Amino acid sequence: MQTHSPWLNLPSLSLSVKALFTGYILVVGLGLLMAGAQIMLTHGMADGKFGLSVDDIVYSYYGNRKGSKLESKLYGSMKDKATPQENLILIKWAREGAPESEWEPTIKPIVDAKCAMCHAHIPSLPNITQLPTMKQVAEVDQGAEVSSLTRVSHIHLFGIAFIFFFIGLIFSMAVGFHPWLKALLIFTPFAFLIVDIASWWLTKLNPNFAYLVIVGGVGYSLASTVMLFTSLYQMWVMPWQGKKSSENTWQDE
Ligand code: HEC
Repeated sequence: MQTHSPWLNLPSLSLSVKALFTGYILVVGLGLLMAGAQIMLTHGMADGKFGLSVDDIVYSYYGNRKGSKLESKLYGSMKDKATPQENLILIKWAREGAPESEWEPTIKPIVDAKCAMCHAHIPSLPNITQLPTMKQVAEVDQGAEVSSLTRVSHIHLFGIAFIFFFIGLIFSMAVGFHPWLKALLIFTPFAFLIVDIASWWLTKLNPNFAYLVIVGGVGYSLASTVMLFTSLYQMWVMPWQGKKSSENTWQDE
């Protein structure tokens, strides 16, 4: 165990530097909590159930590619509304991305004849005789778009690296840690951040990678929490305890 830190050490920092670090730690800690809440609210509900699950992550990044709502309804509760041939035409149209060119000649006549009596008259039902509404139910959910993934990825990498940098810098002044353990703790959030971002892209390609998103997020949250609490403890509690015993090697005279 290293007893004397060659680097600045947290317990003996000046009051003003401690105030600076503590302000930063409190705000970053709050930020981490808010980030957690935001993830729960945006991704947590993706599968319709509260709480973050692997399904939520799959829906958010990979999408629900089993097919459109139109297709699943035409295999389910709307199966008997039109003839099987007509259903097939509608499904094929949805799978092709609902091209507008086929709306007037092929699709609208079927909808007007077989679906309109309910869907154009019952206000609680989507009015699928209107092309924009029909397009929505015919859309296959492809998950996150590449353009939005690149945007969010680079914001996360730059922004979060900044946060981890200062958390690590403050924690590098902690005393009583084996140098390797300390170095590992400082490096861990960066490693998990890369795992996290990489797993978004991998999940977009293959839903089995959704677990990695959770591993990355939990990994860097844990490592930062350990560093934040240790830093607070060593700045405020340790010197206070140190007054009672004279054997503290970290205390500069
Ligand atoms: C007899 C009335 C009736 C007819 C005819 C009918 N529907 Fe429906 N449709 C409903 C009802 C009621 C619901 C809501 C319950 C459900 O989802 O099963 C619904 C729901 C849907 C939904 C899901 C809407 C959503 O946003 O949840 C789709 C898509 C749909 N219908 C497509 C069609 C198509 C295509 C046709 C014609 C081939 C059709 N329906 C004909 C009554 C009808």
